[in-house]
Amino acid sequence: MIPESVRVVEVGPRDGLQNEPSALPPDVRADFILSLQSCGLKHIEGGSFVHPERVPQMRGTDQVLARLPLAGECRFPVLVPNVRGLEDARTAGARDIAVFAAASETFSQKNINCGIRESIRRFRKVCTQAQASGITIRGYISCVMGCPYEGDIPVSAVEEVAVQLIELGCHEISLGDTIGVGTPGKTGELIETLGNQINRNRIAVHFHDTYGQALANIYAALQQGVSVIDSSVAGLGGCPYAQGASGNVATEDVVYMLNGLGVQHGIDLEKLVQAGRNICTILNRPVMSRVNLAMR
Ligand code: HMG
Ligand code: MG
Repeated sequence: MIPESVRVVEVGPRDGLQNEPSALPPDVRADFILSLQSCGLKHIEGGSFVHPERVPQMRGTDQVLARLPLAGECRFPVLVPNVRGLEDARTAGARDIAVFAAASETFSQKNINCGIRESIRRFRKVCTQAQASGITIRGYISCVMGCPYEGDIPVSAVEEVAVQLIELGCHEISLGDTIGVGTPGKTGELIETLGNQINRNRIAVHFHDTYGQALANIYAALQQGVSVIDSSVAGLGGCPYAQGASGNVATEDVVYMLNGLGVQHGIDLEKLVQAGRNICTILNRPVMSRVNLAMR
């Protein structure tokens, strides 16, 4: 049965902006995040603490956080790949972090310069220290439906990483279809299988819309009882380490579908459409949300 309400996690200021050709200054990113908060979003990714030469667009995430109301109701999680990233996040006042693993060995190497086993070893240290500081931890898994280097990824590979991330203390596992190859049948099967190991209310879905399947996949996930959806306003996004990965599913499109289904989400669609247009004007790029374009 479809949940009565869902939590939308806005990833545009991180997953979106990290893949834009031009890097926005921290205060422009902070203003963008504040504009999303005023739409009613309560979970908005603030950026990441990774190597600045690997992802220059996320440089200055500490300055972004400095401008956000970190002690308020809205949460601004940041991505952290190792203890160094955690230390920087903690210094910047982050209350929520996300570690990011992959179900594909090759993708893990390309993205974070180590294999899956080593990444879990690093995340164990990160999670132990984060928990000691009262910081909440989300766990991402990339390539859950396929990998740009290895092709098909078995569900068992996703399951193995998911169980380990939960054991490390992640409160939630976000399933990343990094290159958007999944289809609704596969989404349903994946969540059904994972649901035997992990409570469904701890599963989030993170679909990139490369093949135009994201909304259908989200609907399949909702039918499996998933109630946390990652999306990116105006369909910004991609992944610098997955060639051909287009943007995340657009938040406007998700909200429109949820409205039609009568699912509660707390987001003002009109304001969201405006926020999406504004950031696309700043970036000088087209809006990739069908709903946004239709509401013009
Ligand atoms: P590494 O080279 O293996 O790290 O990088 P190292 O420990 O060997 O250190 C090398 C240098 O990096 C050192 O500096 C460290 O200080 C520095 P040097 O001595 O050479 O001057 N360093 C750092 N600097 C800043 N922040 C840090 C940090 N750690 C080490 N945290 C590392 C490992 C993970 C850092 C690197 O590979 C990296 O930054 N990768 C970028 C990963 C990334 O941001 N990917 C995109 C996000 S994931 C994603 O988009 C997928 C997702 O959306 C879900 C989906 O769609 O699938 C989440
Ligand atoms: Mg992503």
